[in-house]
Amino acid sequence: MSLRRYNPYYRWLFPWLLDRVSGAVADERSELLRQAQGLVLEIGAGTGSSFHCYGDAMDRLIALEPDIAVMQLARQQLAKLPSDMQAKTALLLADAQSIPLADNSVDTLVSFLVLCSVPQPEQALAEMHRVLKEEGQLLFFEHVLADDPAIQRWQQRLNPLWHRCAGGCQLNRQTAELIQQAGFSLQDYERYKHHAFPRLVGQLVSGRAVKGRA
Ligand SMILES: C[S@@+](CC[C@H](N)C(=O)[O-])C[C@H]1O[C@@H](n2cnc3c(N)ncnc32)[C@H](O)[C@@H]1O
Repeated sequence: MSLRRYNPYYRWLFPWLLDRVSGAVADERSELLRQAQGLVLEIGAGTGSSFHCYGDAMDRLIALEPDIAVMQLARQQLAKLPSDMQAKTALLLADAQSIPLADNSVDTLVSFLVLCSVPQPEQALAEMHRVLKEEGQLLFFEHVLADDPAIQRWQQRLNPLWHRCAGGCQLNRQTAELIQQAGFSLQDYERYKHHAFPRLVGQLVSGRAVKGRA
């Protein structure tokens, strides 16, 4: 079963692209995810590029992914990791817009280059807010609408085509604002350009958010 209709992008191009992107953000990923603790829910876990970054403070990982072909790659990735990591990890075929977990049950949420691709990020963030414990945290790393007006114009122009070719990814999301609108406040927040990324996807937001408005 897959939650998504067969999509050749996810079967063929996606794993190749993701390998390249993952190489460019390996340090940022490790630094962010070492803060994960307790029961961790990673949304849009993809091919499992984050799995090796979780430290001893992570008790259990639920890796949520809606695409069965991608999840199969995550399973292969997991099989290469130490047995204790394998024992702590569950792969969950599900959509972040409808998370099959109880309210207030998760200690750490992780969203790493995912909210650009979720059809309704407001809905996913509402679900993430629901499942997160009051004292929990959201760790995020996302590409967003650029600060530079010239790049913004290109993002807006190319978005309809990009969206169709890149598995639903949107170039013009304002994800930090969406996170706050969902009832989180930003902490350790960074907004910067990543020079290893093409300019269209080079404006990044990263950090930690907690429940409650600032
Ligand atoms: C650019 S990839 C990033 C994958 C992974 N987080 C990483 O850093 O390698 C975006 C991921 O978001 C997932 N995704 C798209 N729509 C989603 C949804 N509605 N719910 C959960 N994940 C979704 C895709 O299937 C894909 O695995």
